[in-house]
Order: sequence, then C-alpha cells, then structure tokens
Amino acid sequence: MRNVAVPPADQLWPALGLGTWRMGESGRKRREEIAAVRLALELGYRLIDTAEMYGDGGAEEVVGAALAEALRAGDLRREDVILVSKVLPSNASAAGVRAACERSLRRLGIDHVDLYLLHWPGSHPLSQTIAGFEALQARGAIARWGVSNFDFAAMHELVALPGGGACAANQVYYSLGERGVDFDLLPWQRRRGLPLMAYCPIDQGALARDARLTALARPLGLSAAQLALAWAIRDGGVVAIPKAVREAHLRDNLIAGSFELDVATRVAIDRLYPPPRKAQRLAVI
Ligand SMILES: NC(=O)c1ccc[n+]([C@@H]2O[C@H](COP(=O)([O-])OP(=O)(O)OC[C@H]3O[C@@H](n4cnc5c(N)ncnc54)[C@H](OP(=O)(O)O)[C@@H]3O)[C@@H](O)[C@H]2O)c1
Repeated sequence: MRNVAVPPADQLWPALGLGTWRMGESGRKRREEIAAVRLALELGYRLIDTAEMYGDGGAEEVVGAALAEALRAGDLRREDVILVSKVLPSNASAAGVRAACERSLRRLGIDHVDLYLLHWPGSHPLSQTIAGFEALQARGAIARWGVSNFDFAAMHELVALPGGGACAANQVYYSLGERGVDFDLLPWQRRRGLPLMAYCPIDQGALARDARLTALARPLGLSAAQLALAWAIRDGGVVAIPKAVREAHLRDNLIAGSFELDVATRVAIDRLYPPPRKAQRLAVI
C-alpha cells in the first residue's frame, strides 16, 4: 500500500482529512464504511472528522471500529491520527458537553478526542460550553476544542469571551461553489493562526461532475474533485475534509493534498468561480 505524505495545514494537522457524514446511517452499509475508513488509515489519512450527530452516533462507531482494526493490525499508533468529533448545540451546556463527550469516546473506543467542536451556535451560553470544554481538557478527555459554522461576527464574539482565545479551529462550508469566507473569515483566521476546516470541499460531489472544472483539471493530470481540493488548501491554514467511501475517491483525494496550484491555474479558477467582492452570509448545510 502506498503512503502519500500530505503537507501540514499548520504544525498540528495535515491539510487533508476524511469526512464521515452519511456514514453509520444504515446497518447494510456498515461493513463497507468500516472498510473505507480502514483503507483511508492504511493509505495515510491522518485526520478523521466525525460528529455525534452523524447517523446518531453510527458514524463514530464506524470510525471506532476501523481505528480498532488498524491499531490491532499495527498500521498506526493512536497518537498518529487526529480524531475530530462534535457536540450538538442542544448538548452544549457545561454538564451536557461532558456527557456527550463520554458517549462519543465510548463509540469511538478511545480515551480522548483530539479536537472537539461545537457543531453550530445554539442556545446554551457560549461561556458554559467553553467551561464544559475546559473541564474535559482538564480531565484529558479532549486535547483541543473548537467550533463549527461560526461566521465572522460569531468568531469575534467567541474570542472576546474569557477562555475563547483557546479555540483551536472553526469548521465551515468552504468550496469553489461557496467561497464567501475568502472575503473576511479565512484571512482573519489565517492572521490568528487559527485553522479553518473546510467542509463539503467537493460541494457534496457536485464539483466532481462540473464540466468546466473538469476541462481545467484534465491538462494538469487531475480530476475535477482533485483540483477542487488542491484549490481549497492552496495557501495553508485550511484542512479540507472530503468524505469518501469509494476506494478510487479515497486515493484521488489524498493525492490532491500534495498538488500545488500554479498562478495560471489560480487565475483560471478565479474566472470560473469569482472570489467574493463583499461580505457574504456564511454558507451552511
Ligand atoms: N460541521 C458541519 O456542519 C459539517 C457539515 C457538512 C459536512 N461536514 C463534514 O465535512 C465532510 C465533507 O462534506 P460532505 O461529506 O458533505 O461533502 P463532500 O466531501 O464535499 O462530498 C462528498 C461526496 O463526494 C463524493 N466524492 C468524494 N471524493 C470524490 C472524488 N474524488 N470524485 C468524485 N466524487 C467524490 C463522495 O462519494 P463516495 O462517498 O461515494 O466516495 C460523496 O458523495 C462531511 O463528511 C463531514 O465530516 C461538516
């Protein structure tokens, strides 16, 4: 099996990881999904994104089963892989965060999550959620915490709170089709050294079927999906987390992590998918 070295997004994380939304939803697909995550680990994926929401915990179980197999086989050590999970906003009280995290750890079969995110802003005061995260950190149940679906204004509010500056990542929709964060949020996060995790980087598969992107990608020896991924991580500070179950997709996506875009390709892409000229509402899915 060939291991592809993915360049880091920053000192902590690789620029390319694996998403798991839609996994763990059906018992019928379970074996195939565990095999996909297992293969991902064999191929060299070193960051896996999941959430208590996905398949009502089913995706975490899939990841846990694949990780257990990989550890048993000696493919990697636990500390070699970054596991990211998310707490639902409805569970994001100080006590709720703790209980939710314990359930996630059980499903994942691990003793700590590397990065624990608030899935989207909810009604529990952020100060309570932060207190919950800090308590989990103190117990060693999570290494770092962060947020997801926080727009520019919400991030400013967060970092102004006591302890808010410890936020380690913000995971948002970022793709060629949804590049609004290029205007303000992403440059701001880059300036702060705060990684942006790009979800839906292939627009849920739509970019892979985009004829204009395919025409641009082909002369470079890339598929449209690979070009979309190489674009998302082009300037660092971004971790793209495409979800894939099919083996060809898993292989293609990882390779995209080590492709560097030249100026001509960047210009051609900007012509097809113009950068935002003013602030835009954060895209969410
Ligand atoms: N924080 C949040 O609120 C939030 C929201 C949405 C997503 N996420 C995270 O971000 C991850 C990625 O987003 P997503 O799953 O919605 O969408 P995505 O990664 O943009 O697209 C996934 C789809 O693209 C297909 N695909 C993957 N690689 C491909 C390739 N090389 N060529 C052609 N098709 C390819 C996959 O097919 P196969 O599976 O059949 O291989 C799947 O149908 C999620 O899985 C989840 O972990 C987070």
